[in-house]
Amino acid sequence: MTAVKIETERLTLREWRDDDRDPFWGMMQDQEVIRHLPKRDRSDCDRLIDHQIEWQAGHGYCLWAMELNAEKRFIGFCGMLPPHDPFVEIEIGWRLAHADWGKGYAREGAEACLDWAWRELGAASVIAVTVPENTRSWGLMLRLGMTCNPQEDFDHPDLPEGDPLRRHRLYRIDRPQ
Ligand SMILES: CC(C)(COP(=O)(O)OP(=O)(O)OC[C@H]1O[C@@H](n2cnc3c(N)ncnc32)[C@H](O)[C@@H]1OP(=O)(O)O)[C@@H](O)C(=O)NCCC(=O)NCCS
Repeated sequence: MTAVKIETERLTLREWRDDDRDPFWGMMQDQEVIRHLPKRDRSDCDRLIDHQIEWQAGHGYCLWAMELNAEKRFIGFCGMLPPHDPFVEIEIGWRLAHADWGKGYAREGAEACLDWAWRELGAASVIAVTVPENTRSWGLMLRLGMTCNPQEDFDHPDLPEGDPLRRHRLYRIDRPQ
């Protein structure tokens, strides 16, 4: 599988490297970043990176590491997950260090990912999921042109009954005509 590197004006989306593990764990200890995410320890975070490396090798895409071109600095991830139960569509996702919010980086990375999905994967649609309280994340979904059908709200299968993060919304964007 050929290496993927997606460059935008300010960002590079690329495959994960071992030296991303420490800054990723650093941002995952920030309460702002994890406010709407399930609790994760260091080994969970390393496993998340391992999964991206496996998905990249097996599917040719993943939640790619994202760095700033100007500073060559890791700032988080943005990319796509292969369809996984209960979904049959590709899922887009993002997570940035708090200091890098509010600059349009997530949107710039996500738009580049969607372009790549339409072009390279021939995807018919792409979904994104989040909890209703995560206004920044679903705000980005709306800015990308995604729409939500409340009838598709669902309980996340990885979270136990009673978990306040269990109820999720699903957003979707169709391939541009
Ligand atoms: C969700 C997340 C990625 C959104 O990041 P973000 O920086 O708010 O999103 P965008 O890249 O669209 O940036 C939009 C903001 O940048 C501002 N901005 C500044 N320069 C900009 C530019 N050149 N282009 C576009 N927007 C720009 C916009 O005005 C907007 O500002 P606002 O926050 O004051 O409204 C981020 O909040 C995050 O990592 N959250 C924690 C992890 C998480 O919850 N992930 C999602 C799980 S479902």
